[in-house]
Amino acid sequence: MYVAQPIEWTDQGVVMDQRRLPAEEVSYTYTDYHEVAKAIREMVIRGAPAIGVAAAMGVALGVQHSSAKSVEELRAEFTQICDVLSKTRPTAVDLFWALQRMKGRFEELAQAGASLACIRRSMIEEAKAVHAEKQASDEAIGRFGAEFMPKNGEVMTQCNAGALATAGIGTALGVIRVACEQGHKLHVLVPETRPYLQGARLTAWELYRGGIPLTLITDNMVGHFLKSGKVGAIVTGADRIAANGDSANKIGTYQMAVLAKENNVPFYIAAPISTLDLSIPDGDHIPIEERSAEEVTHIQGVRIAPDVPAAHPAFDVTPNRYIRAIFTERGVATSPYLDSLRELAAAPAVRAAR
Ligand code: MRU
Repeated sequence: MYVAQPIEWTDQGVVMDQRRLPAEEVSYTYTDYHEVAKAIREMVIRGAPAIGVAAAMGVALGVQHSSAKSVEELRAEFTQICDVLSKTRPTAVDLFWALQRMKGRFEELAQAGASLACIRRSMIEEAKAVHAEKQASDEAIGRFGAEFMPKNGEVMTQCNAGALATAGIGTALGVIRVACEQGHKLHVLVPETRPYLQGARLTAWELYRGGIPLTLITDNMVGHFLKSGKVGAIVTGADRIAANGDSANKIGTYQMAVLAKENNVPFYIAAPISTLDLSIPDGDHIPIEERSAEEVTHIQGVRIAPDVPAAHPAFDVTPNRYIRAIFTERGVATSPYLDSLRELAAAPAVRAAR
């Protein structure tokens, strides 16, 4: 089945760009970490796990092109590189997870007395390892989640939690993909996901390319379809999951989860362990990214509203009571999430095949 490749490390730099999809498949090679930070902010790459991969590669680029003459000089620059990359998308915790991981590896090497050349090489290896691990964890999430999908009928998702969002097979779409590969006959309802239209532009494109049947709907049709009695499950991704299971995901997910409960449709989240933020007790502590009003008043550069104030919180938080289960690469968490998520976080990590 076709799997999109939203990001690639090459000797020339980091290759990515999904902004023109579905009309055009283009890519651009980013050679500077400042450019990578700008690319993350401007949605050249998006989706929490893929943002993490981009941040790791951004760090590797920064280190590769650094003019530092000593490890001490590089350490100072390293802090600056991570700082720039961290100020891009505040909700997606995978970004901070990836920066932390790169910092940890850097310190390990520095303390072992590694040369500058070795550190440069190893940072690239670490970024590639982050990418490979995302691929492996998506596959595992897909296997765990597929069991919860109906054998046939409709399922719903939100935004884009596919290959374009994770650099693997996708989390929510990975679950749907694995279920289809196992023989489930699924038909996916895809809300367009205003204002940025990740559903219409990206999820519809990925499913179509993958040969998975779908129907595109507008966001205000969600309740209508959930009430029809035909939707067997909802599966979405997440940008940050608090210790108690409250989960931030694309704006519109909360109302979908509430309507799911009202209509007895199980609502599931699929996300890697790197999306857990056990340092915060609940969803009230999740920072919500505010994006530009122009993304609401305009669609792809065309004004659709008068010049009035517009709000654009990019994410909302679904309280844990609406979530039937959370699929991770280490297993399935259910309520009480405080215990189940802590247990999964302490379980052995899924390693990438070498
Ligand atoms: O603003 P985006 O496009 O980065 O938002 C993406 C989402 O909300 C996804 O559902 C989430 O990051 C999970 S991606 C596997």
